[in-house]
Amino acid sequence: MSKVLKIVSIVSEIDPFSKSGGLADVARSLPKAIKRLGHDVIAITPLYGKIIDKKKYDLKLIYENVDLYINSEDVVRVNYWQGYMMEGLSVYFMECPKYFSKRKTLYGSSCENKRWMIFDVAALKLISLLKFNADIVHCHDWQTGLIPFYLKTKFRYSKTLSKAKTIFTIHNLIFQLGKNWWEVPLKNKDYGHKRLPHFSNPDLENINFAKRAILSADVISAVSEKYRDELMTRQFGQDLHQILRNRKDRLFGIVNGIDYKSFNPNNDPGLFRNYNCKKIHRKKLNKEYVQKKFCLPVNPDIPLVCTTSRITFQKGLALVSEIAEELMNLDMQLIMLGDGDKNYIKELKRISRKYPKKFIWIPFTGNAQYETLLYAGADFFLLPSHYEPCGINQLKAMRYGCIPIVRRVGGLHDTVIDFDPTTCDGTGFVFEKFNKFSMYRAIVRALENFHYKDVWKNMILRAMQESNSWEIPAKKYVTLYKKALRVSDLRPRQTKENESVKNK
Ligand code: GLC
Repeated sequence: MSKVLKIVSIVSEIDPFSKSGGLADVARSLPKAIKRLGHDVIAITPLYGKIIDKKKYDLKLIYENVDLYINSEDVVRVNYWQGYMMEGLSVYFMECPKYFSKRKTLYGSSCENKRWMIFDVAALKLISLLKFNADIVHCHDWQTGLIPFYLKTKFRYSKTLSKAKTIFTIHNLIFQLGKNWWEVPLKNKDYGHKRLPHFSNPDLENINFAKRAILSADVISAVSEKYRDELMTRQFGQDLHQILRNRKDRLFGIVNGIDYKSFNPNNDPGLFRNYNCKKIHRKKLNKEYVQKKFCLPVNPDIPLVCTTSRITFQKGLALVSEIAEELMNLDMQLIMLGDGDKNYIKELKRISRKYPKKFIWIPFTGNAQYETLLYAGADFFLLPSHYEPCGINQLKAMRYGCIPIVRRVGGLHDTVIDFDPTTCDGTGFVFEKFNKFSMYRAIVRALENFHYKDVWKNMILRAMQESNSWEIPAKKYVTLYKKALRVSDLRPRQTKENESVKNK
């Protein structure tokens, strides 16, 4: 085997310790998959006092009362705890009660930038304390965005970190700092180069962490190839498309995987009946069970569509309520699992009252266990996202033979192949434009094909046989890490931004 890499994964949430979305899934599975390839990996994340139970996870205190010198004025005291994600893969938690233990949610305080600035310094300090001579520091999303910047400035001469290269992975660029980037007044926008403000300076909350990471990281990645390209456009680049274009040769796309052990219809304890490609007929029993459970007419010939996403602007599910009447006129049933925007939910509740035999809405809270049962029981999984950096649920759905109906955007573009009636090839139904007509046409196309039994069965088998485990993306990340290690050999780009970062 070639050189064993020493990798630190730094991230604001890791399933099962803390989770608000797909980021936590990636943060759980990717380090494990890289570890399985033989590399030396550790992870660092915050200890959310009201969320993570130290006893349950058997965490051990390893460093107490460590003073972090954030800058000349601000000193913060933290502790570090150690736990395990799997044998030989440690996860370290930074404990800082004043900033990370007051809330029951991971994010949303009025001083988010300050919190994550502390965390970023704390993570780098820990790597030094551990004397973990990292080759790669892998930072995920904006919360860790100051790390690549610090490694080029404040921590530049740190002994243990001097060799480390940084990779910044963009999971969702709409999030760039503790508030919405478009709400920062023009005169307060962060151009990415000036010194970081002290705690007492309100301008700290305007610092754009994601931008700083993009300007400073040795390599940048997006969670799908299509999203990588989209990020360089005005439409998807969230005002950072230009600096991403400037760093095009350092920007890569790698599609996420899913944990094939956890998501396996053959042994998933949440299903009514387990099944696999050879025992595909058993999938029907799950459909019957789901129809019964949610008081829908039990009939295998009525196509059952499900959604399992957060009901937010991003996911585009507002289109469903826009054409609710038309959809309810079709011979189909629809189950939507998920919480989200209050206005959307109100509308969904209204539709379910009007069409109780066709439409069901289930809140996610307390019903998370239904997710895979729905993939097993439903025929289709609908996700008409406005934008979708990767999307994980369509991958899970395919693994359970639940055919995706998705919009051709981001990771959905990369992972679902549109059905072609001339060759009978494809793993789902894909539509281009974000509007109700395009989505409606895709649904109608899907429902029609459902009735051609052979075509339909083969499509399910193709979807189930798609290879979306973490093994392939993990190998791609390792290749990217190796590229990052060689990056200083590449001729640095002579852009203004790079120059000023270099000269800091
Ligand atoms: C974000 C993106 C989602 C992606 C996930 C994990 O939640 O919105 O598309 O799958 O991160 O990378």
